[in-house]
Amino acid sequence: MGKLNCRQAEVEEITHFNPAYQLHYEAERKRVTELAQDAAYLLFMSRADVDQLRSGDPGAYSASWDEGGQPPFRFFNAYVGKQVVGVADLMTQDKGAWAGWPIVEPIYVIPDCWKHGVGRKLWARCAEVARRDGAPGLHVCSLNQNEIARKFYEHTLGLTKVSDESLTIGQHVFPATRYEVPNLGDAIGPGEGLSGASSLVGRHPIVR
Ligand SMILES: CC(C)(COP(=O)(O)OP(=O)(O)OC[C@H]1O[C@@H](n2cnc3c(N)ncnc32)[C@H](O)[C@@H]1OP(=O)(O)O)[C@@H](O)C(=O)NCCC(=O)NCCS
Repeated sequence: MGKLNCRQAEVEEITHFNPAYQLHYEAERKRVTELAQDAAYLLFMSRADVDQLRSGDPGAYSASWDEGGQPPFRFFNAYVGKQVVGVADLMTQDKGAWAGWPIVEPIYVIPDCWKHGVGRKLWARCAEVARRDGAPGLHVCSLNQNEIARKFYEHTLGLTKVSDESLTIGQHVFPATRYEVPNLGDAIGPGEGLSGASSLVGRHPIVR
């Protein structure tokens, strides 16, 4: 296979109407998730912590923020040709002060495509859909030690810090930050288009 042309990535919303497709999507998304997590999280987390985070076991980890418990859930894949190179989920927080606000949780790009604009395209699509749904703004949370993600949110996207958060895995507490786009009208990059967003009843993905 030739070299991936990551700059050509296109974002599509995925739907889960066919169980066979759903399995395929989940396998693809799991692959992207694992590649991205390993490349980013192992820089500051142990292998055991990463494995626990992605295990899906009840109580494996707890986040101080609401990762989004209520439908509608919206799932986006970034494709280069037929290959999935990035994923992002748009969730709706349902607890506390931010109930009703959308949150991007998670957003992952395969390391081979980092710094080629795939993350920006995924974010722009989430922001576009949230804005069209009439959301007041958009949140995302990041571990403070995740320097790559922080740079992406703070410098590339220019997001505003909202609150201190944390993620607990076993005995380890990782400080985190909640970011927001306060005005979604400003959140959409040029040329990202307005196509392809449709309503979807889904469920929380098995892959974190
Ligand atoms: C954060 C992430 C989604 C960004 O995706 P991306 O496709 O690289 O993003 P873009 O190409 O649109 O933007 C590039 C920006 O991201 C940041 N970035 C991406 N890769 C980086 C790296 N290896 N080192 C430092 N910064 C990096 C920089 O801010 C960069 O801007 P620059 O090119 O001007 O330096 C991706 O790096 C990723 O999947 N990381 C691992 C998973 C993760 O941490 N997700 C977020 C969880 S909260």
